[in-house]
Amino acid sequence: MADSVNFTNKDRQHKTVFFETFGCQMNKLDAELSLGLLQEEGYRIVDKADEADVILFNTCSVRQHAEDKVYSHLGALKMLKKRHPEVVVGVLGCMAQKDGEAIFKRMPHVDLVCGTRMFSRLPELLLTIKNQGSHVLAIDEDQIVSVKRPVAYRPNFYQAFVTVMRGCDNFCSYCIVPYVRGGEISRTIADVKEEVQSLVSNGCKEVTLLGQNINSYGKGLAGGITLGHLLSELNDLDGLERIRFVTSHPADMSRDLIRTMSRLSKVCEHLHMPAQSGSDRILQEMRRGYTAGYYRDLISYARELIPYIAVASDFIVGFPGEMDEDFQETVRLMEDIRFQNCFIFKYSPRTGTKAAELKDDVVDEVKRARNMKLLELQKSISLEQNRKMIGRKVEVLVEGASKSDSHKLSGRTRQNHIVVFNGPAVLVGRLVNVVIHEVTDLTLYGKPEDCS
Ligand code: SAH
Ligand code: SF4
Ligand code: F3S
Repeated sequence: MADSVNFTNKDRQHKTVFFETFGCQMNKLDAELSLGLLQEEGYRIVDKADEADVILFNTCSVRQHAEDKVYSHLGALKMLKKRHPEVVVGVLGCMAQKDGEAIFKRMPHVDLVCGTRMFSRLPELLLTIKNQGSHVLAIDEDQIVSVKRPVAYRPNFYQAFVTVMRGCDNFCSYCIVPYVRGGEISRTIADVKEEVQSLVSNGCKEVTLLGQNINSYGKGLAGGITLGHLLSELNDLDGLERIRFVTSHPADMSRDLIRTMSRLSKVCEHLHMPAQSGSDRILQEMRRGYTAGYYRDLISYARELIPYIAVASDFIVGFPGEMDEDFQETVRLMEDIRFQNCFIFKYSPRTGTKAAELKDDVVDEVKRARNMKLLELQKSISLEQNRKMIGRKVEVLVEGASKSDSHKLSGRTRQNHIVVFNGPAVLVGRLVNVVIHEVTDLTLYGKPEDCS
């Protein structure tokens, strides 16, 4: 937590902040927590950078493209900063951790570089910049992030993300995350439970537990604690309706955890477990620690115990040395498993990782073609899977107005399908049974049972 800092009333007045986040859900949640801290200090959020006293980017380094985007956004602020030198520009998160001091060299108008384990000190760091007029670098890795969550500031009232562990010890050969997020640190069950309880007391009905490698939750905690134990404890909380967790790693996903999932009524039938490739040779090069056969067996076991479980995956195409035969194995895996949805990425070499020592020898044209092929295949599978839902009754947690049509309501099923339907606003925040009558590859459309 931040060392105690005395904020004067003047510091609290009329401060505005613009915040943009790149990257994964954990980064989005860190942004939410950071904003919560700033709001508690009197900052008001604005949605235009040129109206803000403080402009912050929470950044991602997972692929080159994510970094390029941030540098281009930063470059675009040069003029604004010239006109208004008093405006504070800050870079937070994974790219801040990775590039550190180099960001000031490349973008001298940046005032703050704040790494992945320092954001809880944001109010204090901003005050230092203001008082000392110099830029601040805060990328200490030894910090344990501990933020007393201001629950009132969450973006979705009925659904919240909760970080249960930070960092990753897996070092998949292509991945920058362990370098920018540090080693695995799990929060205690009591700590997580207290946060979930306060969210529930504040109206939240569904939580998604976050960890880069969530199946190894508990490692390092006393008493042989596992994710199963945490799920069991949360399942007992009154008022909480649903629990999800992401992201699962096949090598760390135990059959015991699948049995626990099947037993606990609040744990949703939803598993995001990236396969990354269907080729054993490539999986080995990626240092994933399992084979495609092992992955298939795990999914079969999960489907045996939890028949309606929806499985989602990530895939990387164009990893160094990926031959057409390897890619065909990935296509076969996708065809056989029939995922509910998949994220497909073109391999992007990350300096410092093991795979970056290999030649990035799959040309971009081939990466693009493989990417397209998997996207199209998955789209057809998602549509086919969703068509099976027609005529079925699903339980939807109604989140609010639909983004595509504000006259309609939108929510999610336990399997994480998005459902859009006509209904009165009083249904928001409730669990409603909806009968599905139309689908696309991304959305289910239906009619609420009690309003028909
Ligand atoms: N911790 C999660 C997610 C990590 S990053 C997990 O292990 O599943 C999210 C996804 O980005 C990964 O699943 C992977 O598919 C992709 N990814 C990671 N590094 C990448 C790289 N260098 N190039 C392309 N995609 C990458
Ligand atoms: Fe990256 Fe692998 Fe860790 Fe996921 S499990 S964050 S892909 S190193
Ligand atoms: Fe990106 Fe960092 Fe997440 S690198 S994917 S924002 S952990």
